[in-house]
Amino acid sequence: MKQIAVVGLGYVGLTTAVGLAQLGHQVLGFDVDDAKVSKLGAGESPIYENGLEAALEGLIHSKALDFTNSLDVVEDFKPEFIFICVSTPQDDSGAADLTILNSVVSQLAGIAEPNSILVIKSTVPVGTGQTIANTLNRTDVFVASNPEFLREGTAMKDFMEPDRIVVGSSNPEVAKRVLDLYEAIDAPKLQTNLESSELIKYAANAYLAMRLSFTNDIAALSEKSNANVDQVLHGMGLDKRIGTAFLKPGPGWGGSCFPKDTNALVAIAKEFGSPLPLVETAIASNNAAIARSVNAITELAGGDLANKKVAVWGIAFKANTDDIRDSPALKIVDSLISKGAEVQAYDPVAVAPDRAGFVLKGTALEGAAGADVLAVLTEWPEFAEVSPDKVAEAMRTSVVYDARRILPKSWRAHVSFIKVLGEASE
Ligand SMILES: NC(=O)c1ccc[n+]([C@@H]2O[C@H](COP(=O)([O-])OP(=O)(O)OC[C@H]3O[C@@H](n4cnc5c(N)ncnc54)[C@H](O)[C@@H]3O)[C@@H](O)[C@H]2O)c1
Repeated sequence: MKQIAVVGLGYVGLTTAVGLAQLGHQVLGFDVDDAKVSKLGAGESPIYENGLEAALEGLIHSKALDFTNSLDVVEDFKPEFIFICVSTPQDDSGAADLTILNSVVSQLAGIAEPNSILVIKSTVPVGTGQTIANTLNRTDVFVASNPEFLREGTAMKDFMEPDRIVVGSSNPEVAKRVLDLYEAIDAPKLQTNLESSELIKYAANAYLAMRLSFTNDIAALSEKSNANVDQVLHGMGLDKRIGTAFLKPGPGWGGSCFPKDTNALVAIAKEFGSPLPLVETAIASNNAAIARSVNAITELAGGDLANKKVAVWGIAFKANTDDIRDSPALKIVDSLISKGAEVQAYDPVAVAPDRAGFVLKGTALEGAAGADVLAVLTEWPEFAEVSPDKVAEAMRTSVVYDARRILPKSWRAHVSFIKVLGEASE
């Protein structure tokens, strides 16, 4: 059992804190957000993540996990490992903004115990770990990179059953000490230098984003050429070199990682004089995918959105999360509003900040009430369970746009018109 502090208790930090405590370590979570810390202290999860709250309660009760908003408490705890999980958002140029991370590191420099390890879990540009090691000015404190690959919605499962665990350090013994924390997890464990570990995270996210952009472009081409996109993608994915995972078309990728990480990687590549045009094109392709959905909805509303009511099902960037950061659904919503539409939305868990022309409803049917067009923008399974008859009854004109391809084919007989992303209109 090791003493571990986790700094930053968002999607990654909280999952890490809970996961490491479940692995048998003594964990103290630190965050500057007082409201979050007191909620956590009471055993309540500030985020929607399957299994997280249930795990929290037991760990707090058994004293394996505690939370604080005071760095003094972190210092007294004398952690051997300090996991840094703060956000690394995008700055105006598209590069990663390390302001929060750097301020955390400078605070920790003064309180880290001799022989302790700062483990960078935040996604950071290549070279950051080494810069931190240089600026720490502590020969007795080490730096390791341990990028996180969890997916929101299945974060706890991904932590406990990862595809791989990557740890980078300039000192193999330091890397081994970090890897040993995960001893109980049966997964490939990769030990690298700092730079490789940092680049693995960006390369993986950019590759996944490119794959989704390609999938969405193929869906658009299928729609125009009367090909069946499911068959095309299935036939393509059966090639073992390609694989079938992550070939699902949609209204565009988003979330807290892909948009900022692709932009950051483009910035990193330019800085090193080794550009990545494929990633740049994937970003442009994603903007085009979002615009395609806006155009499809506009067309379904008769070509003009002024005074039209659009119902939107799903505002989170994907199903099973409440995360709306860089959600394609919200980008589409904003674009519809800017074209004169009034948007009435429903999401099972996500909440969006107030904006003019936008109202959030409590149920799917309330969301559909009085609408001219219903757009399904997030793939929550519960949307496919709603009765199409009731939807048709609730809407003004029962015209539906399924950007996630989740509504059963039977809907066609119950609504006046349905357009499915990737399929030619009948
Ligand atoms: N969300 C994901 O799916 C995911 C997956 C893999 C990697 N990542 C990376 O992990 C990092 C964190 O992402 P996230 O989604 O958990 O972010 P988040 O915004 O959900 O959480 C960040 C937390 O850090 C806290 N914080 C801010 N300043 C602080 C400070 N000075 N000291 C202590 N805490 C502070 C915030 O209050 C917040 O709770 C990012 O670099 C992200 O790119 C995220």
